[in-house]
Order: sequence, then C-alpha cells, then structure tokens
Amino acid sequence: MARISIPVDRFVTTPYSLWEDQWLLLTSGDFSSGKFNEMTVSWGALGSMWGRPFAQVVVRPHRYTFEFMEQYPTFTLCGFPPDFRPDLQLLGSLSGRETDKSIQAHLTPIAASKVAAPVFAEAALTIECKKIYWQDFDPTHFLDPNLDKNYPRKDYHRVYYGEIVAVFGESTYLRPSA
Ligand SMILES: Cc1cc2nc3c(=O)[nH]c(=O)nc-3n(C[C@H](O)[C@H](O)[C@H](O)COP(=O)(O)O)c2cc1C
Repeated sequence: MARISIPVDRFVTTPYSLWEDQWLLLTSGDFSSGKFNEMTVSWGALGSMWGRPFAQVVVRPHRYTFEFMEQYPTFTLCGFPPDFRPDLQLLGSLSGRETDKSIQAHLTPIAASKVAAPVFAEAALTIECKKIYWQDFDPTHFLDPNLDKNYPRKDYHRVYYGEIVAVFGESTYLRPSA
C-alpha cells in the first residue's frame, strides 16, 4: 500500500466513522524483538490534549494486547481498505495468547518510522503513538447508568492516551495545502 507522510495538522478523516464503522488495528510491543500483539478496536478518539496531538484507545484488562500496552511505551493504530474487513473481524475475535493472529489474517508487520511497535504493510493509514497517560474507567462516574451495561463482567477498560508522533496514509488522508 502506497503511504505518504502526513503532517498531523493536515491529517483529515471522519473520526466517528473511522473508529465505529471502519475499525482500526491497535498494536503494541516491539517489532525488532518480534514481541508484539494486535487487536481490532472501534472505540477511541483522536484530538488535542496538553497542546499535543493524541489518540485515545481503551483496552479491557483481559486482552492479551493489554499486557503489551502495559509493558511497552508505544503503540500504533492502522486503518485498512474495505477488503480487509474479514481480517479485522478475525483479529478482533481471536486472542494472540492462543494463536499467531497476524499470520492467519495475512497481514505483514513492518517497522514503524518512529516507534518500536510495528505497523502493517497492507494498511492505508498508520498512526504512531507514544504513551503519555492512562486511567481506568470508574463506573461511579458514569452519568448514564446504561453505560454500565457494557461491563457485565465489570472488566472496565483502561484508557490510554498516546501522543501522535507520525502519521502515514494514502493521499486521501492529506488535506491539500492552501
Ligand atoms: C469491531 C471490534 C471492535 C473492538 N473494539 C475493542 C476495543 O475498543 N477495546 C477492547 O478492549 N476490545 C475491543 N474489541 C475486542 C478485541 O479486539 C478482541 O477481544 C481481541 O480478540 C483481543 O485480542 P488479544 O487477546 O489478542 O488482545 C473489539 C472487537 C471488534 C470485533
């Protein structure tokens, strides 16, 4: 997939649809040692915090990816063309604890440009992040009681903020300069 470097202030996307409809692949770990894991995510955010571009991801504690998010300082988010939907479904239903999911999904991990966590060759969009903050959801702060229905096992997500340090993507993700 041909990706170009996208300055963060010219990165254009439709954020709600990118997460909820297109889905992203969250990967944490270290490419050079081969120790990393990836999983599909559809809840998260992109924005600005403390004057820095950031991505927010939420990971339930029993995910295998959680162990990597805890242990390693960086993560990546990858978006894929529609043909890869079945692969994202697979990566969002199998656990890396039991199987090498990226091989089953026919995805090729490659080195990212600025972080140790890998990106994937087939991605149309790659966002490289350095962790800067985490916090666990506190159910006593849910103002809509219906939100707790997302947690029948009380496995509240851990929230991670990653400072975005690089974005690469197809040219559709680049706002033309004025
Ligand atoms: C569309 C979709 C979106 C998902 N979004 C999230 C998410 O935002 N956070 C999360 O913890 N799990 C999410 N999951 C579930 C994980 O991707 C899934 O449990 C995965 O198998 C975990 O893999 P792992 O054990 O290898 O980390 C999602 C699954 C799908 C199919």
